[in-house]
Amino acid sequence: VTTPEDRARRVFGERASFYSDSDCHRDPQVLAMMVELVEPQRDWRMLDVATGTGHTAFAFAGHVRFAAGLDLTPEMVREACRLREREGADNVKFTLGDVRALPFAPEVFDLVTARRAPHHFSDIGGALGEMRRVLRPGGRLLIDDRSVPEDDTIDAIMNELDTLHDPSHVRQYRASEWMHLLEAQGFNVDGIEPYYRHRPLTALTEGMSAAGLERAREILEALTPAQREQMAYTQVQGEWRLNHWYVTIAATRT
Ligand SMILES: C[S@@+](CC[C@H](N)C(=O)[O-])C[C@H]1O[C@@H](n2cnc3c(N)ncnc32)[C@H](O)[C@@H]1O
Repeated sequence: VTTPEDRARRVFGERASFYSDSDCHRDPQVLAMMVELVEPQRDWRMLDVATGTGHTAFAFAGHVRFAAGLDLTPEMVREACRLREREGADNVKFTLGDVRALPFAPEVFDLVTARRAPHHFSDIGGALGEMRRVLRPGGRLLIDDRSVPEDDTIDAIMNELDTLHDPSHVRQYRASEWMHLLEAQGFNVDGIEPYYRHRPLTALTEGMSAAGLERAREILEALTPAQREQMAYTQVQGEWRLNHWYVTIAATRT
């Protein structure tokens, strides 16, 4: 039996070089919005969990004193270190580790970020508890992740499609679930901003097994006209596209 963490190491081990140049993960608009949202201070120390190839850590590095990036997958950490040389980002350090047991002392960071990753965490409560532990009281938490609207059917469809796309996917949460999760782990939510992007279907189907593609086709063909409309499942210049939902959340450690 494999865990989501075993599967994440395998999936992301194979995709590490893709992530360094992925337009979706470099998305400068979202990264700039994240920096703007927390107004980082020059003397802050920050931690970016599940940093991947470090896009978020690099986006904040010029605004803070020190940025640590942590990831489970050795290939991701290696690629992040290679990019650090290219970027000349001397105040960024990358570490191998698991968000469920962060290798840091309590209350050492002013800011913790987690971008496009919590949907892979097998124990979201435990992960948030660890992020809170390493934050000083009053420290900020900033999350940007895949999400689903407050609708049972779309929720089930998007979560299944994402599992077919990436077997290390656990769950993309609704904004309302995030509110409960964060409050239960000792955070005050300062702002929560759901948004979506109309993205090519291939962003989901790329890398799917033949059986996965078959199941995805079945799911999409069974959509009612109303669901198609809700998901904006449509062709644009000959290319099938559908909405992907996201959420950005700023919170403060109590
Ligand atoms: C989509 S990628 C990260 C993207 C990155 N945060 C960014 O903004 O470009 C998801 C990452 O989560 C990492 N990951 C998954 N589970 C983890 C865990 N339990 N602890 C630490 N990292 C984890 C994977 O290794 C992978 O690099």
